[in-house]
Amino acid sequence: MASGKRTGYRVEENSVYLVFEDGAACVKVIQSDMIQVFVAPENGGQTSQAVETDRSVPTAFTVKDEDGVLAVCTADLTVKVYDGFYVDFYRKDGVLLCADYRGKRQPVSVLGKKAQELLKAEGHDVPKGLGQDHAVQVLKAADGDEKFYGLGDKTGFLNKDGYEFENWNTDNPQTQTEAFKALYKSVPFLITLKERGVYGLFFDNTYKSCFNLRKENEAYYFYGADGGELNYYFIGGENMADVIKNYTALTGRTPLPQLWTLGYHQSRWGYESAEEIREVAETFRRLAIPCDTIHFDIDYMDGFRVFTWDEKFYGAPGELIGELRRDGYKAVTIIDPGVKLDEGYFVYDEGIANDYFAKTPEGEVYDNWVWPGAAVFPDFGKPAVRRWWSGKQEILTSMGVAGVWNDMNEPASFHGELPADIVFSDEDKPLPHAAMHNIYGHQMAKATYNGLKDATGKRPFVITRACYAGTQKYSTVWTGDNQSLWTHLQMAVPQLINLGLSGFAFAGTDVGGFGADCTPELLCRWVQVGAFSPLFRNHCCEGCIHQEPWSFNEKTLQINRKFIELRYRLLPYLYDLFRGCEETGLPILRPLVLHYENDPETWNLNSEFLVGEYLLAAPVLEQGATKKMVYLPDGVWYDFSNAAKYQGGRYYVVDAPLDVCPMFVKAGGMIPTWDVQQYVGENPDPALKLLVFPGEGRYVHYRDNGEDFAYRDGAYNLYSFVKEAGKEVRMEMLHEGYPRYQKIEYVYMGSE
Ligand code: GLC
Repeated sequence: MASGKRTGYRVEENSVYLVFEDGAACVKVIQSDMIQVFVAPENGGQTSQAVETDRSVPTAFTVKDEDGVLAVCTADLTVKVYDGFYVDFYRKDGVLLCADYRGKRQPVSVLGKKAQELLKAEGHDVPKGLGQDHAVQVLKAADGDEKFYGLGDKTGFLNKDGYEFENWNTDNPQTQTEAFKALYKSVPFLITLKERGVYGLFFDNTYKSCFNLRKENEAYYFYGADGGELNYYFIGGENMADVIKNYTALTGRTPLPQLWTLGYHQSRWGYESAEEIREVAETFRRLAIPCDTIHFDIDYMDGFRVFTWDEKFYGAPGELIGELRRDGYKAVTIIDPGVKLDEGYFVYDEGIANDYFAKTPEGEVYDNWVWPGAAVFPDFGKPAVRRWWSGKQEILTSMGVAGVWNDMNEPASFHGELPADIVFSDEDKPLPHAAMHNIYGHQMAKATYNGLKDATGKRPFVITRACYAGTQKYSTVWTGDNQSLWTHLQMAVPQLINLGLSGFAFAGTDVGGFGADCTPELLCRWVQVGAFSPLFRNHCCEGCIHQEPWSFNEKTLQINRKFIELRYRLLPYLYDLFRGCEETGLPILRPLVLHYENDPETWNLNSEFLVGEYLLAAPVLEQGATKKMVYLPDGVWYDFSNAAKYQGGRYYVVDAPLDVCPMFVKAGGMIPTWDVQQYVGENPDPALKLLVFPGEGRYVHYRDNGEDFAYRDGAYNLYSFVKEAGKEVRMEMLHEGYPRYQKIEYVYMGSE
């Protein structure tokens, strides 16, 4: 850390280098509303997995040194650096948005030594050194009205104020509660909203780190990491949407996926044979429940050896997948990082021969235990290992596999966590596990993405469980091993929304719940959340009761079908949102606060969300409930199904029997839909049905081949629809590079 009096500074391009009595630091202008602050620039700057290339753009700024305070001033922000390396950020109107806290940490409640001993003796988890400083630490002063959002997949509610979280990718099989500090993902990006304004902070440090959000003391919040250097970005913007745009310009945006990936996915750990999978696939078609994708969990492998196929139970490689393809299905196979320690197994042998596996500090290949028993861990930090792993994807794609699911890549290990000093790589330099851990999944997903891209030329579909900030460029995510519990359905909404605010627009939960046994009612309500979740996959643990849509009774089946069909009708709308996301970083599922940040009612809304800007869904998340209290923000809203009119800015109690998920469309909203298909592409040229709600508005609809990268060379259409009050919709082509719809139908909802 830098500290003491500032003794000098120099300006070089976008960077202001600062020298303190103790250490050096840098304030770098990334763009006029985004500033990077980091220490020890003499180490050659920072390498980052999240920000892969220098994102700074030439920006005009001034530097003034007055009364010992150095002020760096852009068109949008002023950064003031004080002695002691205190840094404050002001908006252009002079408002102080974010200030370093000048005091020392002062936990409001401290555990006495005696109490600590006693707790320890009783075997309790004793909080480590309350108030004890981290190797890297920043305290920010709190105004007192902060709301905190983002932070990836953390448990609990939408607003993280008053909580503490850790970033250490963790596979903890216990039932997740809001007391969990860490889950599978590390996304150290925080959005702070308060009366004075909104801003983001991104702490780019891969060591174990923590966010304490006014839990230790209401006067400040802090970020601390166990190692590495201080390196963070202050991310400004006019509003929350701008902050997200800026953050994703820095760390990357969720790319436009293949269209089929937005369909319904069915999965289960424990489909033990080709026969079982065939039956699942046939049942969807027989019952006319749309489905695009069948997932193959670890059962398909030969002894859990990655990149192998169990011919005894699953038949000849490629045969079953070929059959599924002919029936309109895509196959997604799971791949874990742990490679079975097994001489004669080609993946193990190749890795050993080329020195591809992580080692102990003494230079021995390190092994631990995962599904296949003793296993070794590819060192994805080495470019050669990533290339090797990328190449391996072809084994899968040549069998017809369409997407790859990366699991257990925290990395999870059954015989205790990997020791901190296990040696991985940061490109050509050694990197201890302590620094690699949180980016292990990121590097694996990146290698998988590149391999799929090379092998198929299509937009890769990768799902990963562990990730770091920036992984959204390569992979979609799911939230790991939830359980079939109402509390977990309730948690799904804030979890998916915060992932979206943190750059991960393409995310889903295991619909129906992974562990424990689902119930008919829970499945009906979960599918109502799933229908709007960017990734819509029903998945379940081996040994739990079946939860495919038909597993319970006729009513449950019908409700599942109804919402899966709704999903297929909404595909063009969802796809438009993904296209928008690639351009702006704005997520698909959005908390109301994203568009109505000045409305206090939206700050803590945990059980409803927006899908894009126009569609609002308020699913029932409680057992037995058949009414839902819905908050509609400012404006006029229409019921999605019957166009009944609602004045916003207040709460309504609406009917929500088991087969209803209350949905509303904002006045002027237009929602593009297609007729239901059993899978994407069943009808290669669907008619566009635009649902037009009363009011004035404009909507731009995007269409391309849904598969490859031709759209980046202009092979797409943009349709603009304009609706003036009381008039018919006018359509205009904004871009034409793809065959036009044969038919466009306007469905006027409600009377006007
Ligand atoms: C992990 C995954 C889960 C998967 C299981 C077996 O628990 O999170 O989704 O089914 O491993 O591969």
